[in-house]
Amino acid sequence: MYKLLEAHHLAHAFDYPLFDDISLGISPKESIAVVGVSGSGKSTLLHILSTLLPPQKGQVELFGEDIYAMDEKSRLAVRRKEIGIVFQSHYLFKGFSAKENIEVASLLANQPIDDDLLERLKVAHVLHKRVADLSGGEQQRVSIARVMTKKPRLVFADEPTGNLDRTTAYEVMDVVFSYLQEREAGLFLVTHDMELAKKCDVIYELRERRLERIS
Ligand SMILES: Nc1ncnc2c1ncn2[C@@H]1O[C@H](COP(=O)(O)OP(=O)(O)OP(=O)(O)O)[C@@H](O)[C@H]1O
Ligand SMILES: [Mg+2]
Repeated sequence: MYKLLEAHHLAHAFDYPLFDDISLGISPKESIAVVGVSGSGKSTLLHILSTLLPPQKGQVELFGEDIYAMDEKSRLAVRRKEIGIVFQSHYLFKGFSAKENIEVASLLANQPIDDDLLERLKVAHVLHKRVADLSGGEQQRVSIARVMTKKPRLVFADEPTGNLDRTTAYEVMDVVFSYLQEREAGLFLVTHDMELAKKCDVIYELRERRLERIS
């Protein structure tokens, strides 16, 4: 079966080894959750898989191409057009409005703004506000809206619901899960919320330097 993402034998260490032999794949419509204690290397793994950090060992293929073997320009094009990354803390342009932030993504990825998506993510009514004036949860929803506006084939999300109450978190993630089905996209989700992880097809735990499948 065709994989959107294939990672082979990844190893990475900072002050101490985080993992030494991680392999995994993501197929169209598939969602993968990774849980694990703080400091186990979940965000580092997400950065490696999402073009942001070359691993010390191993390969990452996105859409059949080795992303760290390609030149910087091609890798940037993949990051800009094909993948969406929701970070643990939001990287929105704070002085701009929510709408302007979404417009930037729309321009960079050359995709129109999807008003229905903005309604479903419950951000339509805050679009005119400056990001700095939004609540933490609103900022988080705008970040997700910005990423989904790009219509990515792979979504990487690092604790995307950390600032949301349970009900809102599940509503927002349901939008993401239906998107995966509609667009045949894939999801790599890092979360501490086991209930949310259970909505994914596969759950892994990062512990003792390995990725162990727990469901
Ligand atoms: N750029 C870096 N330089 C040095 N050390 C780093 C760097 N990035 C991460 N680390 C270290 O690697 C370890 C794993 O960090 P990482 O952010 O991947 O953990 P995590 O599992 O995402 O934790 P959390 O659940 O708290 O978000 C930590 O000890 C962190 O200090
Ligand atoms: Mg993290």
